[in-house]
Amino acid sequence: MEPDSAAAIETRELTKRFGSFTAVDKVSFAVERGEVFGLLGPNGAGKTTLVRMLTTLLPPTEGHGYVAGIDVARHPQAVRKQIGVIPQALTSDLDLTGWENIDIYGEFFGLSRRERRIRGQRLLEMVGLKERQHDLVATYSGGMRRRLEIARGLIHSPEVLFLDEPTIGLDPQSRRAVWDLLEQLRKESEITISLTTHYMDEAESLCDRIAIVDGGKIIALDTPVGLKSVVPGSDRIDLAVEHDAGKIAAVLEGQPYLRGVTRDGQSRLSLATDDGSHAIPLVLDAVEAAGDRVTSITVHKLSLEDVFIHFTGRTLRDEGAKKVSLFVGAGMPQQPMRR
Ligand SMILES: Nc1ncnc2c1ncn2[C@@H]1O[C@H](COP(=O)(O)OP(=O)(O)OP(=O)(O)O)[C@@H](O)[C@H]1O
Ligand SMILES: [Mg+2]
Repeated sequence: MEPDSAAAIETRELTKRFGSFTAVDKVSFAVERGEVFGLLGPNGAGKTTLVRMLTTLLPPTEGHGYVAGIDVARHPQAVRKQIGVIPQALTSDLDLTGWENIDIYGEFFGLSRRERRIRGQRLLEMVGLKERQHDLVATYSGGMRRRLEIARGLIHSPEVLFLDEPTIGLDPQSRRAVWDLLEQLRKESEITISLTTHYMDEAESLCDRIAIVDGGKIIALDTPVGLKSVVPGSDRIDLAVEHDAGKIAAVLEGQPYLRGVTRDGQSRLSLATDDGSHAIPLVLDAVEAAGDRVTSITVHKLSLEDVFIHFTGRTLRDEGAKKVSLFVGAGMPQQPMRR
């Protein structure tokens, strides 16, 4: 079959409407083979809906999606053979052992017994579950289930792996283990990975490029470094002074080593700079020369959080919303490969 797109994943004005509500709004992007591509956005941004269209679970309302060069609406069966899908909710079967979960999936994809054994054992080894493979999944932790599901999603050697919020609800140690696993996959295989997340640190450390999604639209798309370069200054200095932040703001405004000064209340200031460690002593001197005293000073590197705020005026962190997201995930179909 002649490929319709040369990219690993491509969308052209891909749109999904539920009644009069537009969940995904004319989204266009292309992902190269071997790339780790992140879809980052708050709850309800449309990430899962976009992924469900690309994984043939949901027909697009308008526009086109191509995965491994194949049109998802015209040839869903062919697309399914080329993709591994790890949905937002945990979907491994609790009543089966880890090995049985993998074996059944392999059979579903038409792998021979021998292929299933060889590849399945290699994958279980890779995800660190070889020793536990004959235990029921009911006895696994959330992190272990997630790792098993990643192994299961790889059993048929897919070209593209879709992961929807792979670390949601996991403890920090399990998150770390999943990150290490994805890092290893990226280094050791040619696979293309599409990763959906609303964790900034996750997107930043794993992804080659990130699309920031909000309200069904892509509002920015670049490498983590490229996204950050849009916002002035690579560092942020948070400063508190004893007496008069207004006076200090006026003194610091226009200093060549600062890219911006924002006053935050009576005593606090936020300073944008390209080199925090260079700027700190200069700031301390300037405050002292102005007859005030610094009571606290900290520096942090510009994060994707600052980028998100820059584009949307809102913050992405939202603990309440995380619970909703788990709830939405629980409604996901348990059989990712069936329509
Ligand atoms: N089957 C559906 N019918 C109606 N509305 C839907 C349906 N599926 C999703 N939506 C709506 O579309 C919007 C996008 O939902 P989606 O699940 O794609 O968001 P998300 O970015 O994955 O969010 P989360 O971070 O919570 O997983 C939401 O407002 C949601 O309520
Ligand atoms: Mg989602």
